[in-house]
Amino acid sequence: MATVVVATGNLGKLAELKDYLQLLDWDLALKPQEIEVDETGETFIENARLKASEVAIATKSWAIADDSGLSVFALNGAPGVLSARYGDRDTDRIERVLRELGDESDRRAEFVCAIALSRPDGTIALETEGRCPGAILMAGQGAGGFGYDPIFFVTAQGKTFAEMSNAEKERYSHRGIAFEQLMPKLKQLKLTD
Ligand code: IMP
Repeated sequence: MATVVVATGNLGKLAELKDYLQLLDWDLALKPQEIEVDETGETFIENARLKASEVAIATKSWAIADDSGLSVFALNGAPGVLSARYGDRDTDRIERVLRELGDESDRRAEFVCAIALSRPDGTIALETEGRCPGAILMAGQGAGGFGYDPIFFVTAQGKTFAEMSNAEKERYSHRGIAFEQLMPKLKQLKLTD
């Protein structure tokens, strides 16, 4: 069976990605640490393609990558593709979003997750984008998850990502939605192509 390299260095995302990918009976490998890809794309999907292709070429394997982040409407989509670089630590990034949003009454936001799967030659075999709408709270709530989870309130579920169980987050999150869209196609794919 062909190996698929999971092209992420983020441990929180890795844990979630592995949960989805385990359903596929693929032989998964982690991205070697020395392979660093500059996220120079202006959109989530551009960055997901870039990461999947570069890691595939470097490892001569299939590679799957996601690029995700938070877009806040009243901040013109920020932090967007800069979500991981909006501060040094999760707490700094959360603080910055809350500070920039201040007491703005329009708290609408969405999490976006783009996923791309690259063949060993760097060409993209499949891609998709999942979106989860929500709102930014005035302060964090809940202790689970990672990143911006405590301040992202999913109105449909009545709780933040940080208050959801792993199973709930996997089902309702942007990553969950992206995988739900992609899974039927992934199941049909012949990795030896
Ligand atoms: P990247 O996809 O590695 O460029 O980074 C995405 C960044 O967006 C992460 O470092 C988090 O700050 C944020 N992010 C992405 N998905 C989630 C999530 O499910 N919960 C909280 N923060 C997230």
